[in-house]
Amino acid sequence: MDRYAVVGNPIAHSKSPLIHAAFARQTGQALSYEALLAPLDGFARTIADFRAAGGRGANVTVPFKLEAFALADRHTPRAQAAGAVNTLAFDAEGILGDNTDGAGLVRDLTINLGCALAGRSVLLLGAGGASRGVLLPLLAERPATLVIANRSADKAEALAALFATQAGATRLQGGGFDALAGGRFDLVINATAASLAGELPPLPPGLYAEGALAYDMMYGPRRTPFLDAALADGAARVADGLGMLVEQAAESFALWRGLRPDSAPVLAELRRLIAAG
Ligand code: ATR
Repeated sequence: MDRYAVVGNPIAHSKSPLIHAAFARQTGQALSYEALLAPLDGFARTIADFRAAGGRGANVTVPFKLEAFALADRHTPRAQAAGAVNTLAFDAEGILGDNTDGAGLVRDLTINLGCALAGRSVLLLGAGGASRGVLLPLLAERPATLVIANRSADKAEALAALFATQAGATRLQGGGFDALAGGRFDLVINATAASLAGELPPLPPGLYAEGALAYDMMYGPRRTPFLDAALADGAARVADGLGMLVEQAAESFALWRGLRPDSAPVLAELRRLIAAG
């Protein structure tokens, strides 16, 4: 049986084994998928051992996505742009590094949530790894405007500069939260770590255009403070990051197995499980 795993630290609460088991059942693929706890100083060793034991590929999560990038012998363009890897595929030639986070986000937005990005104005909050990881797939949807806003404005400016040559016709800008005053957006994506701490990026009011969607990459049994604040500020709809989690998994599964699972029933089941606690 082909073996796959998700590697992280911590890893016990990862939903990936459940998601991939559901994909495997649904598509009739004979594979196993386990959660592997790597010591903080032992990511490369954990991967080498898993590969030696017959592993075919792995998902990589916090805090190892940069190490996974360094470990890969070759990278997909989207992993290269992200500077981080969440999916490894092992073959005779070595280790391929991919990053399926951005594609997962875009699929959740455009397909599951019916939110087309072409020609729209998009605000991306945060300028860390989570933001960088999704920028190339977001730009590929050709929004009219993509503003990156961050607590430390210089990091947002640097990230916008890094992607300047890949922006195409999209107006790509970076800056601080203050500079957002007066702006109106069709889609606001929270890629800051604020929700992890139950906090809220300090945003000026009135950011949401008519019909706008607020999206938090985080998820949990309760609505995040960011999504509560978005509704209070006039967002028409809100969504958390559970769909992105399932879609990035589907994208990894497609890379490994050459076929795409139907994510909708898996997302619905996971949503039910999380709501039930
Ligand atoms: P990740 O890989 O999750 O993006 P990161 O690289 O540490 O993690 O980046 C965290 C992001 O969340 C940064 O944009 C950070 O802002 P700063 O660059 O100013 O530190 C942002 N962030 C974290 N806590 C926040 C908070 N309470 N309010 C607003 N932004 C926050």
